[in-house]
Amino acid sequence: MLKVEEVQPTEFSNELVAKFGEIVGRYPEGKQKSALLPILHEVQAELGWVSPSAMDKVAEYLHIKPIEVYEVATFYTMYFLKPQGKYVLEICRTGPCCLVGAEKIMDYIGEKLGVKENEVTADGLFSYRGVECSAACGYGPVLQVGPEYTYYENLTPQSVDKLIAELTEKAGKS
Ligand code: FES
Repeated sequence: MLKVEEVQPTEFSNELVAKFGEIVGRYPEGKQKSALLPILHEVQAELGWVSPSAMDKVAEYLHIKPIEVYEVATFYTMYFLKPQGKYVLEICRTGPCCLVGAEKIMDYIGEKLGVKENEVTADGLFSYRGVECSAACGYGPVLQVGPEYTYYENLTPQSVDKLIAELTEKAGKS
């Protein structure tokens, strides 16, 4: 069953709609569908995720079918299809990082935050998930913090503690 936040109508800010117009303007007349990926990034930046109703509105804006938006949003893992924490810790779980302890780091993060992968902490600050190669294979274990995508390398439980403390403080909730 869909949750309330997945079916409630989405309103885009005037600033966001203005950005849509700027993005569509980069492409030739009639090729507005090409703007879909950057528009979805902007939607996610404003709403924190890409909800079904947001996808429907994007389809309406671009004059394409909703399925054309769903198939793109569900293909690329950088689009969040569920609400996430303010900070999303994305841990590389591809082979080279696993060889140097990525899975243990993921388990540690889950235990420390008290949530499972893709769940949000009670204070709304954090969620985490495993992702495929983050292109920093020589520096594993690696994670990136979305949505800004700052990298943290050679992770240890101690450096994870420090990172989570810093982000908590940054959010003004320490
Ligand atoms: Fe982890 Fe490439 S395998 S960054």
